[in-house]
Amino acid sequence: MAQSTNGQVRVGSLAELKEQGCKVMTGQHGPIAVFHHNDKVYAVDNRCPHLGFPLHRGTVQDGILSCHSHHARFDLASGCTLNLFADDVPVYPVEVRNGEVYLTPYREKIDEVDHWLGRLQEGMEQNISLVMAKAVIALLGENVDYREIVKRGILYGTRNRAAGWGPGLTILTAMANVCEHLPAEEQFLAIFRGLLHAARDTAGQPPRRDLQPLGKADLDAATLARWFRRSVEVRDSEGAERCLLTALSMELPPAEIVDMLLAAATDHFYLDGGHTVDFINKSLEALDLVGWEAAPQVLPTIVGQICRAGRAEESQAWRQPIDLVPVLHEAFEALPALMAQGRGKSWQPGGSFTETLLGDSPLEIVAALNTALREGATPAQLAQEVAYAAAMRICRFGTQNEFGDWIGVLHTFTYANALHQALQRGSSPELLRGIYHGAIRVYLDRFLNIPPARLPDRRGASASPASGPAVLEELLKEMDTRQQVDGAARLVGQYLSSGEPTGDLIRTLAQALLREDADFHTFQMLEAGIRQYAALKDTPRADHVFTAVARYLAAHAPTDRARQQTARIALRLHRGDALYEEEAA
Ligand code: FES
Repeated sequence: MAQSTNGQVRVGSLAELKEQGCKVMTGQHGPIAVFHHNDKVYAVDNRCPHLGFPLHRGTVQDGILSCHSHHARFDLASGCTLNLFADDVPVYPVEVRNGEVYLTPYREKIDEVDHWLGRLQEGMEQNISLVMAKAVIALLGENVDYREIVKRGILYGTRNRAAGWGPGLTILTAMANVCEHLPAEEQFLAIFRGLLHAARDTAGQPPRRDLQPLGKADLDAATLARWFRRSVEVRDSEGAERCLLTALSMELPPAEIVDMLLAAATDHFYLDGGHTVDFINKSLEALDLVGWEAAPQVLPTIVGQICRAGRAEESQAWRQPIDLVPVLHEAFEALPALMAQGRGKSWQPGGSFTETLLGDSPLEIVAALNTALREGATPAQLAQEVAYAAAMRICRFGTQNEFGDWIGVLHTFTYANALHQALQRGSSPELLRGIYHGAIRVYLDRFLNIPPARLPDRRGASASPASGPAVLEELLKEMDTRQQVDGAARLVGQYLSSGEPTGDLIRTLAQALLREDADFHTFQMLEAGIRQYAALKDTPRADHVFTAVARYLAAHAPTDRARQQTARIALRLHRGDALYEEEAA
């Protein structure tokens, strides 16, 4: 390539270019297509920013370059795209001197972070998965912290869905939590998946409109909490939202806001199959990422869900053949006294505690919880015990059950995990009711363990000579085949008994999830499992949590893995790989 002193290269004569229409040159960043059109010359990156199709094979008409692959169109002069699913194509300076065409084969550095943050926003607004994937890869490549990207997604999602907090924001927050356990190069998929779901939830939805707080004269925290709960009771979301906004504008401590939300969410039983408490907890975790100052934007998005939620006491299962509602109400009346008796004591669960929770007597379950409180159990401890019992339901879930029943045991586990996390922020006696709700839900799931699936045989597993990495590889292969529930559990047991680092197992389980077109519940399962494993770490019970995760993931794999394909394409485009044979040649 002949290069002049000012860095330009000669393309050829104007007459030649006019005759050819287009000529491909080698640039510093890849091939460049130089066009002659309407007596002017133009130069653009020859790789279509959508999927890399060679643009010299496109058509130019009336100043617009059309890619022949998916028909994205670009203003030939500026490179700006008319179709947002593509990106703008980079342009290069080109000039004609004395009948010769000269190209500057490199481009000025642009503010990449600014550009890709803009593209991320557009990708979410237009719900275009490839644009989001490319933006996340580029931003991480520019060393933008993943939390900053998640923050953008959370603020976008809370602003643009009138229906409020939903599964998408829950997935995004959960995947941000999972990122803590992933090396930097593996965080992309988790964040991409979260943003994708958050954007999908807002697609076609009206945005949220802010309500205003009440005037603050003579209002105190107790009054606001009471009004909030009364508003929720009658499903008045406007009233409840204004009470919450008022409490936030008074800058009450976060623990009081948590108490207010969770007290209302436990005034009735097991709201919305456990989702309500889960969403509240996730909105609080989202605030850990974006900062409490965003609470007036984030927390009102969960009020509608709290007000609309189905109340389990209205369902047959909680009423027949035993009416569980009066049993629990009687226990709730005693909670302040039980907590007072337990103050200053410390409690450890005995060996039979879990078996009682997994047993078939609701009265014994309630009595065991009461006794534990009297003996000094903390709310967080009890919630963790319920979460462990719920994980055991998944470990022992019989695969001959209806496939849809997986979701029943999943709901109980993720609800109990959410409560466990939330109770580390606030723990008034009212919130304890949520633990009893969870424990009764574990009881109601008991038929899904008949007959119980066998737990993996650890002794047999440890006798295997396979190395840890080989086991993890086999685990991924196992999940390439449908319904390898017990095989996946066996391999997890085998890995755990090898004494290899659990961090690698977490990464493998995350890979197993993130390569699938997983549904909302599967994302929840992995994240809750990692949380509960961390809480139980270094106890023999911790392994059971990963057994539960592996069984659930295996039951829901494989899927079409279409999103993984999008992610791969975005990665290859980012690396500058040739996606088309011709260009590679
Ligand atoms: S529009 Fe150009 S590759 Fe898809």
